[in-house]
Amino acid sequence: MIQAVRIHSHGGPEVMRLEEIELPPPGPGEARVRHTAIGLNFSDINVRRGGFYQKDPLPMPIILGNEAAGVVLAIGDKVDDVKAGDRVGYCGVGSNFFVNTGAYAQERNVPASRLVKLPDGITDIQAAALMLKGLTAASIVDRAFRPKAGDTILIHAAASGVGLLLVQWSKHFGATVIGTVGNTTKQQVALDHGCDHAILYREVDFVSATRGIVPGGVSAVFDGVGKDTFVKSFDCTAPFGMLVNYGNASGHVPPIDILQLSLKGSLSVCRVGVSQYLGDPARFREAAGRLFDLVERGVLRTAAIRTHPLADAAAAHRQAEAASDAGPVVLLP
Ligand SMILES: NC(=O)c1ccc[n+]([C@@H]2O[C@H](COP(=O)([O-])OP(=O)(O)OC[C@H]3O[C@@H](n4cnc5c(N)ncnc54)[C@H](OP(=O)(O)O)[C@@H]3O)[C@@H](O)[C@H]2O)c1
Repeated sequence: MIQAVRIHSHGGPEVMRLEEIELPPPGPGEARVRHTAIGLNFSDINVRRGGFYQKDPLPMPIILGNEAAGVVLAIGDKVDDVKAGDRVGYCGVGSNFFVNTGAYAQERNVPASRLVKLPDGITDIQAAALMLKGLTAASIVDRAFRPKAGDTILIHAAASGVGLLLVQWSKHFGATVIGTVGNTTKQQVALDHGCDHAILYREVDFVSATRGIVPGGVSAVFDGVGKDTFVKSFDCTAPFGMLVNYGNASGHVPPIDILQLSLKGSLSVCRVGVSQYLGDPARFREAAGRLFDLVERGVLRTAAIRTHPLADAAAAHRQAEAASDAGPVVLLP
């Protein structure tokens, strides 16, 4: 028997229960992984709540979670790329984030093709904090908009898990970065991670604050907040600028009239999902390797990681929803 955090219905953090479950031996193509560090992602909160992205109800009960690091305990038939004892990590198992979850558990059988071996310079906690968030950031800077010297990028919720990585990556490419943040603690963390300006967007109007810094508008907006920020951001983007939405922490972005994009300055909009970026296992391993290399070289810093016991996952969700703290959260089984 192993312990896992499951939900039997959608709802608030109170629906999360630590339960004993039976785990079968790994099947063909699978590896059994003993988790040592589990990534908490805002998508776990969305799955727990249920919602807009689901056409059909998910079969209950559900073990939450898409991301973990750990050690291979055993392998099933037809597995030749990992072996017992390997340190590994994964994020997603090849489907959309709301199906085939199962990382909030002491152990899990994972398709071996979805595992990446962890380099010696990357701790299990770093891997669990970074893979899904870092590859989301990579899907933006690789596919949607690559910042360069001379660009100014507006990054909403710059002190979030994904936001801090986008800030550092954009600075690495030579751009100027304006972040928005929810409180003064986050403001300091964002500045410490390289933000050139950090706007307290719950206290001041971020459009006029941004225009005050770059009167001509920003080259691109990276937005994981959604409803509260995305459409408003049209007004602080330079002509021919790009707005990338990658999340809905405040709610779903309302439908956009495409004519508005012309009237606001021939703007482009893009909505990235990391599931497509990670769809191909070879690309996942290659992209994870590049991410780990940036961490090992100190380009992406991980000082802001916070940890909670897996048994306290519901409290960790409450804190994430309260949005009081900066940086990524890792659950320790
Ligand atoms: N597209 C993809 O495939 C993909 C993959 C991973 C993550 N995401 C999305 O990326 C975003 C960031 O993820 P994360 O794991 O880095 O999250 P996180 O660290 O928990 O940060 C989320 C931040 O969003 C801001 N926020 C604004 N309105 C909020 C609200 N009503 N409730 C809670 N937070 C609110 C808060 O920052 P302030 O206090 O500064 O406002 C909060 O700290 C999420 O929307 C997530 O769903 C998308």
